[in-house]
Amino acid sequence: MSPCCVFRFRSSLSLVTIVTVSMSWALEVANKAGARAASFSTYSAAVFALRVNLPKLIEDGVLDESGNVNRQARIQMMPPIDAAEIPWVSLASTSAPERRRNNIQNVLKTNLSMPLAEVIICNTSVGMEPDALALLPNALPLGPLVAPTSGPAGHFLPEDLACLAWLDAQGPGSVVYVAFGSSGFLDATQFQELADGLALSGRPFLWVVRPKFTTGVGVRQDWFDAFKRRVEGRGLVVGWAPQQRVLSHPSVACFVSHCGWNSTVEGLLHDVPFLCWPYFADQFCNQSYVCNVWGTGAKLCADERGVVSKEEMRSKVEKMLGDEEIKARAAMWKDKACASIAEGGSSHQSLLKLVNLLRQQ
Ligand SMILES: *[C@@H]1O[C@H](CO)[C@@H](O)[C@H](O)[C@H]1NC(C)=O
Ligand SMILES: *[C@@H]1O[C@H](CO)[C@@H](O)[C@H](O)[C@H]1NC(C)=O
Ligand SMILES: *[C@@H]1O[C@H](CO)[C@@H](O)[C@H](O)[C@H]1NC(C)=O
Ligand SMILES: *[C@@H]1O[C@H](CO)[C@@H](O)[C@H](O)[C@H]1NC(C)=O
Repeated sequence: MSPCCVFRFRSSLSLVTIVTVSMSWALEVANKAGARAASFSTYSAAVFALRVNLPKLIEDGVLDESGNVNRQARIQMMPPIDAAEIPWVSLASTSAPERRRNNIQNVLKTNLSMPLAEVIICNTSVGMEPDALALLPNALPLGPLVAPTSGPAGHFLPEDLACLAWLDAQGPGSVVYVAFGSSGFLDATQFQELADGLALSGRPFLWVVRPKFTTGVGVRQDWFDAFKRRVEGRGLVVGWAPQQRVLSHPSVACFVSHCGWNSTVEGLLHDVPFLCWPYFADQFCNQSYVCNVWGTGAKLCADERGVVSKEEMRSKVEKMLGDEEIKARAAMWKDKACASIAEGGSSHQSLLKLVNLLRQQ
């Protein structure tokens, strides 16, 4: 989350403070100062609906205030999920109870200030998330707000533009693009298994490996250098990629992703099928839009060691690249998303509503 989370939006007629949802305490500041306020959610409406319903889930005994879950419970909202998959629970492992408790307490605190926002501006659309949005009467879905493709946004790593020229040299619909967003990481075992899986797939691949991407003992630099030499010409490893430009490139065939909301929607907007990485996205992937609702991707499964094996990688890539149905669905969802932001579309109408709101004194 970007540190500069509070910003002011000046229209010709009214001043409204817009606060990102995870910094909702700022709503109270705005309220005390007598300013009007709105919230902005960078997450999916599904996650937001879950956030708003967390107090109710605690009341119902699905989990307690420290984030201990009743594993039997199944939450019947939007796509149904298991209690253990609630993001604030699953993001902090059971070995970090203090962190989990803090997560939950933060969400509860947010809940109290949320009514101070006149509307919740959401980076999503009615077409993409009808069920979750139905649970949020106060939401103004005016997305997907597509960031300009040039210029860095929300991260500080330099983009490696040379990968675009490399993509130009690859065949249409041939490249596997692998990127886990700005905060995901893998341990050394998983990292090497993924590398071997990409080599084994026999397909060209573009892999984003941020500095400090692996943890623990880490991957030996000499091993990684040897790997890069081994795949030279067929595989390209970069520190950070201009993701939207990569995803819109005709050479890209599929996106191995942690399924963060931004990446999910960026893939959707460029009709690229997904292979969802379970480690980061567990809480979302198996019930996620990509795999279960939109049907625009498949899940990579971890084996009994908790590792996505090279063989799993190879076989899912193979399957994905031959799956015409997934490609057709991806194209359909792209059209839906684009229609919502086009003039007269649902997100455009939400935008007009927001403008009207700003006109009120
Ligand atoms: C959470 O917010 C809702 C809606 O504003 C409110 O009805 C509910 O009482 C709040 N719950 C808690 C535990 O703060
Ligand atoms: C998600 O996956 C886990 C383990 O793979 C399983 O226990 C759970 O039931 C799945 N959740 C849903 C909603 O399918
Ligand atoms: C999504 O992208 C925006 C704009 O680049 C960024 O501010 C935000 O933090 C990102 N959201 C997440 C969940 O990473
Ligand atoms: C909104 O979502 C799009 C698509 O995922 C993403 O590129 C953009 O950065 C997001 N914008 C903000 C301000 O969160």
